[in-house]
Amino acid sequence: MSQEDKQELKEVPVNGNVSLSGEIPPDFRLTPCCEVPKAKHPRPVPEGAWEMSTEGILGPDSQHAYVQRWYSMVQQEKSGSVKFQVVRNDSKRESLMLLLGLKNVFVRQLPNMPKPYVTRLVFDRKHESTILTKCTSSREYVVMGGCCYRPFLEERFAEIAFLAISDSEQVRGYGTRLMAYTKERTKELGLTHILTCADNNAVPYFKKQGFSKTITLEKERWQGYIKDYDGVTLMECVLNPKVDYLNIPSMLKAQKMCLIEKLKEISNIHIVYPGLDPEIRKKIRLEDIPGLKEGLEQSERSLGKTIPLESLAAPRDPASLQALHKELQQILTQIKQHQSAWPFLEPVDPEQTGALDYYEVIKNPIDLRTIQERLDRGDYYVTKEIFAADLKRMIENCEAYNGEKHFITELAHNLERFFNQKL
Ligand code: ACO
Repeated sequence: MSQEDKQELKEVPVNGNVSLSGEIPPDFRLTPCCEVPKAKHPRPVPEGAWEMSTEGILGPDSQHAYVQRWYSMVQQEKSGSVKFQVVRNDSKRESLMLLLGLKNVFVRQLPNMPKPYVTRLVFDRKHESTILTKCTSSREYVVMGGCCYRPFLEERFAEIAFLAISDSEQVRGYGTRLMAYTKERTKELGLTHILTCADNNAVPYFKKQGFSKTITLEKERWQGYIKDYDGVTLMECVLNPKVDYLNIPSMLKAQKMCLIEKLKEISNIHIVYPGLDPEIRKKIRLEDIPGLKEGLEQSERSLGKTIPLESLAAPRDPASLQALHKELQQILTQIKQHQSAWPFLEPVDPEQTGALDYYEVIKNPIDLRTIQERLDRGDYYVTKEIFAADLKRMIENCEAYNGEKHFITELAHNLERFFNQKL
């Protein structure tokens, strides 16, 4: 096929096992993009236990927001309510009408761009556009957005000149799908990179589409073709010929399955023991709980220290519980007095600290005052491990919210080193 032929008006096919009726089914499962090799040496399943399948461990794919969005998009395309197509100025009426519609979207959405400049590039025969159209109630397709780019076939890169979605349709996933189609098209043309001078306010969008400010394409290949100017950021996306950009969720599914298969060799993730009989639960000995010993051995290997089975059991007599609480109180008092403890003494106050989204990000907050209240209750910390788990979560929350390099995280790690010696 000649390069000229490749630039004909065309629709890009969509693969996927998607039904056309209603919302995503709750048990929807994706087909992985390739066959996933089974674990070579999975941990053996002991007698009485059973093996959970990789699909079972991962759960239904419908629970993930990115899959829901992808599913809805593919469904709209299959039902014909939206269409993505590659269009260039080939003088045909249909193409010209679509390009005119796209030019109008660009003029509205990119008000800083001079209208004649937009018109010239959109209708320029060296440029082509991926166009999104939506079916109206009168069964007409209206242009809702698009991406206009120039493929530089010899230099094997494309430059996106304009990209926009009508404001009524923004932030609904169309921009992502449009970019996926553009990547597939440029891949098909044998290109290896996409460059763009992104408006500064569109940089986060481009980042989410795999663009980076680091330009790896050799300068000789793009210099002289791309003009950088104020208020924009030159960004690059490296195309991977092996990736099907229209079916990313199937690729992620295959990667997740590979990971689970590998984990089966080093963990008991796939082994399920029968539940306890509620009749005998209270009288059961720790060593008789199926899987407990095996799980403990695994933790011992990863921690590099032995954990006595008895330490997991809650003391049943009041005297031992009192002794445990006395010891925990001594440790907690020392932790509270530590010089690095001050950020953790009280629950996080979003107003006072400026961390307005703290409780949106951190779903299980904990702090030293809450730990003290739990200790005072008397029936909460029935083992040292439960107490230690709360302290560990406090440190993990801090790192998750503030990031690894933040000074508060440094204080958290100081405190962690201190209480690890005490516990
Ligand atoms: N700032 C921050 N995040 C953004 C922006 C933005 N301006 N636009 C989209 N996003 C995020 C979305 O929140 C979403 O995030 P999520 O995946 O975490 O939920 C992600 O990017 C993808 O969003 P989509 O819904 O797929 O994108 P949308 O359909 O809104 O299209 C576009 C994005 C094309 C930038 C659209 O918002 C638009 O037309 N904006 C006005 C015109 C514009 O700025 N065009 C780019 C100019 S640069 C150039 O033309 C080379």
